[in-house]
Amino acid sequence: MTAQLIDGKLIGQQVRDEVAAAVAKRIAEGKRKPTLATVLIGDRPDSAAYVASKGKACQELGMGSVSEHLPSDATQEQVETLVKKLNADPNISGILVQLPMPSHIDEEKVLSLINIEKDVDGFSPLNIGRLAQKGREPLFVPCTPFGSIYLLEKSGVKIEGANAVVLGRSNIVGMPAALLLIGKNATVTVVHSKTKDIPNTLRQADIVIAAIGKTEFVRGDWIKPGAAVIDVGINAVPDSTKKSGQRLVGDVNFNEAKEVAGFITPVPGGVGPMTIAMLMKNTLRAAEFQDL
Ligand code: GUN
Repeated sequence: MTAQLIDGKLIGQQVRDEVAAAVAKRIAEGKRKPTLATVLIGDRPDSAAYVASKGKACQELGMGSVSEHLPSDATQEQVETLVKKLNADPNISGILVQLPMPSHIDEEKVLSLINIEKDVDGFSPLNIGRLAQKGREPLFVPCTPFGSIYLLEKSGVKIEGANAVVLGRSNIVGMPAALLLIGKNATVTVVHSKTKDIPNTLRQADIVIAAIGKTEFVRGDWIKPGAAVIDVGINAVPDSTKKSGQRLVGDVNFNEAKEVAGFITPVPGGVGPMTIAMLMKNTLRAAEFQDL
């Protein structure tokens, strides 16, 4: 193995510890407790599990959490009314509406309603617009790309001047990751389903961010020797040796890539723990905006 393993569990825990200390300090100073409101629409088990772990993390870090749950047939108006209520509530620091929303809900409209100072997901058009523009700063950076770049920086990977390839252009990961890397002076290529020669494009990459949701898609011989590989994929594959009957693997063939890369994140234990850690950091930041 040539690659240095990037330990997201450890780095995520360090972020959580810093946030917990800042929260305790705020509370000792008589300031408002940072509080995250999550909104779950419907009953997707994966979304319910994510929302539950976000609430649990808040409690572990001494923050407040409010979990709102609307039925899968909730109307657009019900969702909008709830977001407006949370916008107006001074006890709520941050608002997160879990994605995907049911298909009858106008997601763009809901996200654009969230008060920009409470938009801890960073998905409101105002935050994304600022992320995209030179010389402007978003109030919040979307959590998974934020965590991915944080792992690179903590591992000492040089972003400025690097060739970075982002696989996937989702609103949640690929697109904001590409914008963040551009903002940090990388030369960025975004690879997607219509890209002509993915292996050769990847072979130019000093930094790879894989976020396409395809099991072990990236092969070892697509990786430039010494490259930093951040694997955002979380794919369940059958495994009869596991109690649950499955195990999680990434978008990168880890066993092959670790023999070529300079740095690599494992799955699980890489980017996964960073998403919630960065959400906690964003929720603390939201509370700080409300002090002003
Ligand atoms: N669904 C998958 N990832 C995310 C995320 O980071 N935020 C929200 N709101 N929904 C998601």
